[in-house]
Formats: sequence, structure tokens, C-alpha cells
Amino acid sequence: MTDPIFQPLHFRNLTVKNRVFRSNISGRFDNEDGSLSQTRINWECKFARGGVGAIISSYVPVRLDGRIIAGYATIHRDDFIPLWAKLGEAVRANGAKYILQLSHSGRQMDLPGIHNQLRRTPSATSRAEPLHGFLTEAMSTGEVRRMVRDFARAAWRAREAGLDGIELHAANGYLFTQFLSSAINDRSDCYGGSLRNRARFLLEVIAAIRDTVGSDFHLQVKLSATDHNNVLPWESKGNTLADTIQVAQWCEALGADALHVSTGSLFPHPLNPPGDLPLEILAVTYDAMISSGIHGFRNFLMFRYPSLRPIFRWMWFRMKKGRPVEGVGLDEARAIRNAVSIPVISTGGYQNASFIRGAMERGELDAVSIARSLVANNDLVKQWAGGADVPERPCTYCNKCLVNAPKNPMGCYEEARFPSRKAMIDELMSIYSTRADLKIPEVQQ
Ligand SMILES: Cc1cc2nc3c(=O)[nH]c(=O)nc-3n(C[C@H](O)[C@H](O)[C@H](O)COP(=O)(O)O)c2cc1C
Ligand code: SF4
Repeated sequence: MTDPIFQPLHFRNLTVKNRVFRSNISGRFDNEDGSLSQTRINWECKFARGGVGAIISSYVPVRLDGRIIAGYATIHRDDFIPLWAKLGEAVRANGAKYILQLSHSGRQMDLPGIHNQLRRTPSATSRAEPLHGFLTEAMSTGEVRRMVRDFARAAWRAREAGLDGIELHAANGYLFTQFLSSAINDRSDCYGGSLRNRARFLLEVIAAIRDTVGSDFHLQVKLSATDHNNVLPWESKGNTLADTIQVAQWCEALGADALHVSTGSLFPHPLNPPGDLPLEILAVTYDAMISSGIHGFRNFLMFRYPSLRPIFRWMWFRMKKGRPVEGVGLDEARAIRNAVSIPVISTGGYQNASFIRGAMERGELDAVSIARSLVANNDLVKQWAGGADVPERPCTYCNKCLVNAPKNPMGCYEEARFPSRKAMIDELMSIYSTRADLKIPEVQQ
């Protein structure tokens, strides 16, 4: 086959069988203590069976105080290594590689849970997150250095578990973004001020990981090409593409093997995931977050009362300015790819094989990562291999999966894609299992 989508991608330390990565998707699959569950194994294996070359995990905190929501698996304990090993083994048995996303929320913590309730989350800054008003406290220089060691130890655990690589989540508003962004970082020590200083935390983590796991373990970095931090119009814009190109080059120089290019200094963001924002669903799911931040109740009222929704809609959708959904970040990925020599994976709205093929043939990216179109059609890659350009029941980019996430199981909530509501719920529930021991789901050819 000469189709570029199906050519293997050779990184320095890893080969992936094609150019399609399942992008990170968080869901509440796991246990309160951070141990991963059979449900997560079932979930990940669905995508492996569907033909993707690699799965990049959901957000996996390196510490318990870095969770976004309780019920997501963590990698903060050595005794979790065998669980992650089991997951990696299951995904590989179903034909894909498994890359673990190492993360810390910093101030962007949606639902604190019992461990973090009534505490201010460690961040680069003491200023509250502006949209929801999550409270936070700037780390001391010594605390930042401890955090660097915690990331390195987590990378070591991923390697001990035999996983295929790690990704540092330095995008979308989480802790690394809080250091990198000129709109967020207000420090006066060696981790604040110039771009080099703001990047110091990320670069120290890369260096510490290389010291701990060596240079032959795959390490990629997810970066937001542009902050677009002014979702609230009075906030400043934050880092530019030129800033991120510089950070990308520093990451490469320190031994990063690939870059995963996203956008936005918060999550979700009008441009990530691109598409709609169903406020009528937020009106019944956002109540879970009312007490998380000092602006939670204000936001809830805007979602709850139809007459107030236009205010939020205007604020959110004004950022899009006619940008496409499919390939929303392609221009920026191309600019970064032109400035580095390691492979670049682009995320944002990909679903159409001929669109992706064209971008690959023009040398604009090395691979795509896909979240929602694969949630909608787990076997999208197999459908492309069979000659389809777009699936019969495509993802509509409605973002109902996203806004259900704080309260409900992860999956596709676009009822129009299913023969009935019952069929949709059956599909959502299909990954749950009552088995206590972790099993590798059957391989289906
Ligand atoms: C429900 C949901 C959960 C997500 N969780 C994560 C996450 O844990 N880590 C991350 O880096 N990105 C996360 N993302 C962003 C996706 O990985 C992806 O980059 C983004 O949705 C754009 O790709 P898409 O248009 O193919 O969905 C999430 C997206 C969705 C919709
Ligand atoms: S709910 Fe389904 S159709 Fe809508 S964005 Fe999510 S995966 Fe796509």
C-alpha cells in the first residue's frame, strides 16, 4: 500500500504501524485510589482493535494532588506498575502501541475529590484560574524541584511497566502551561519572566526523565501551539506560535522524540476540541463543578437559564472566526514541523481520509491524533483501509461527549447517530465489567 496514512512511522525509539494515534481521552473509568480498572482496559482495547497505530493515554497524574477529577487512573505509586503493565500488554495484544500521558493539573482541577478538597492546588501562580475560578497557590522553588523529581519517577514507572513511551502534557492549561504561558506565569524566581525561564520547568523535567530512564525510551511532548488565552476578553492572549516554536526546539535539543501539537491555554477551549458547545447539557452536568471554583455558580446560572446562554455563546464562539473544525491546528503544526526535525503529530477534528492524506502528501504533518471521531467510530481506521473516506455515521463534533464527562460515562452521546436512545446507552455501558481480576479482552481480527 502506498497510502501515506498506512505507512509506518519511525521515531528514534519506537515504530508505530501507521500514522493514526488515538488521542488522549479522559473518562472516569478507575478507582478512587488511582488504580486502573478493567473498564479502562476494555476501553483502550476497543481502539486498538479498530486499527490505530498507537494509543496515547488519557491524562495520568504523577501525584494525587494533580488529578483533574477523581476516578482517573494515576501513576503515583510503584505498586501500580503491574496494573499499567497489564494494560500495555492488553493493548499490544490487540495490535497497537501504548504511550502514557504524564500530567499534573496545577490550578486546572475540575473536581477536587476527597484528597484535594479545601486545598489550594500547587501551580506556577497564586492567581485563580479565570473561567471557573479554581483557587491555587504558587509553588516555592523547592516545591517545583520536587515536582520535577515526581515526573521523573513516574516516567520510570511507565518504563518499568513496559509501556511504549510517555507524553508530557504541556498543553491545554495544565501545570506545564501554567509555567509556559506569559498570560499565567507571574513568578519572579528562575521559573518566571523570560520565555527561557518559563520553559525551565518543562525542560528540567525532560532532562530529569532522560537521566532516570535513559535516552532510548520514547518521550513526546504535547504543546499548545498558541495560547489564545483571551477566552474571557479581558485576559491577555499569552504565548504566540513563535514562542512555541522556540520551546519545541528546546524540547528537541534536550531529547524529545516527537511533538504532539494542540492549541489553547485552558481545557476545554473554543478551539479544542473544535465544534459545538451544548450549553443545554452543561445545564445538567456543570452543577457537579459549582463548588470547585469561585465562578462556578455564575457559570452554572449562564448554562441553566436559556436567556443568559447567548452571553456565554458569544464569548466562546467569537474565538473561532471562521476556522475549520477538521485540521483546526494544521497551519500551526506545519509551522512547528518546519522548525524541528522530529516527527509532529497534529490533533483537532480529523475524520476525513482524503483530507489527512493530502496534508501528509504536502509534508504538513507526520501523523494525526484523533479523539472524538474514534469515540464515534472505534473502527475508523479499518473503515479507511476498506476504502471509505468518511464513516457512514460520522462524528458531528457536537461535543456532547465532552460536556457529559464531569458526571457520566465516557462515550458518544449524539443520539442521532444511533437507532435509539437505548442503543446509545448500551454502547456507553459496553465497556463496564464486573470481573475483579484484570483480563486482556479478546483479540478480534
Ligand atoms: C472527552 C474528552 C477528553 C479529553 N481528555 C484529554 C486528556 O486527558 N488529555 C489531553 O491531552 N487531551 C484530552 N482531550 C483532547 C483530545 O485528546 C484531542 O486533542 C482533542 O479532542 C482534539 O481532537 P479531536 O477533534 O479528534 O477530538 C480530550 C478530549 C475530549 C473530547
Ligand atoms: S458525542 Fe459523539 S458525535 Fe458528538 S462529538 Fe462526541 S463522539 Fe462526536
